[in-house]
Amino acid sequence: MIREVVLRVEGLRKRFGDVQALDGIDFTCRRGELFGLLGPNGAGKTTTIRCICSIIKPDDGSIEVEGVSVASNPLMALKKIGVVLEDGGLYERLTAEENMKLLAQLHGVDGSLIDERIDSICDTLGLDEYRKRQFKKLSKGNKQKILLGQALVIDPPLLILDEPTIGLDVPAQKVIRDLLGKIKKERTILYSTHIMSEAEELCDRLAIIDHGRIVAQGTVAEICRKAGARNLEQAFLKLVGRYA
Ligand SMILES: Nc1ncnc2c1ncn2[C@@H]1O[C@H](COP(=O)(O)OP(=O)(O)OP(=O)(O)O)[C@@H](O)[C@H]1O
Ligand SMILES: [Mg+2]
Repeated sequence: MIREVVLRVEGLRKRFGDVQALDGIDFTCRRGELFGLLGPNGAGKTTTIRCICSIIKPDDGSIEVEGVSVASNPLMALKKIGVVLEDGGLYERLTAEENMKLLAQLHGVDGSLIDERIDSICDTLGLDEYRKRQFKKLSKGNKQKILLGQALVIDPPLLILDEPTIGLDVPAQKVIRDLLGKIKKERTILYSTHIMSEAEELCDRLAIIDHGRIVAQGTVAEICRKAGARNLEQAFLKLVGRYA
């Protein structure tokens, strides 16, 4: 059975001065799929994500979320996206709980559902002890979990995570990884990572980006076959031309 397309990205291009950050990016994520964006530093992963979330405007190309065009209807498209960005984006002085509540209210989540949802998220993420603390006073790992919590509180059909495990210690990485494994059954997730083992474990499909272009796309097995590689790390190094 072919599942419905939740995110469609076509011909995305973006230039910053002399740098062609995106040079024709095409991919689709289907319902219930965890789709990985892999690529070396500066490949264009964050730029792709920032275009999808209307933070920047692409020079060319189209993006649709559940059929809604990001260019012509950004607010409606944004309502469908929960996002964890590279540089955070929560109110430092509010508590973890207040941040989640505010976002849920801004998205028009039914008031009677909000507390229940926050309770459930804090329980799943192991945040009960930290939910009443100011965001700025939390450790990096707990901040990252709160960011994931705020992305989930609007119950979005599409979850976008830009390197959600960056800078976390091994146990915290595992918590996030296990959680992604758990929630990926119910929603569509686009996420970028540098950690090959994580991508191998979690991704249903992935795209490898280099210099703003997709150099391979498919399941881990398909990408390894295409590259003639034993594992994803070897395939990655071969495909981005940095194979020693
Ligand atoms: N606001 C900006 N102004 C100028 N250049 C930018 C801007 N944002 C990104 N770039 C450039 O665009 C290219 C792609 O950057 P991007 O942040 O998308 O890479 P990335 O794949 O997310 O890398 P990383 O793995 O380091 O997070 C880089 O060359 C970067 O320097
Ligand atoms: Mg990035």
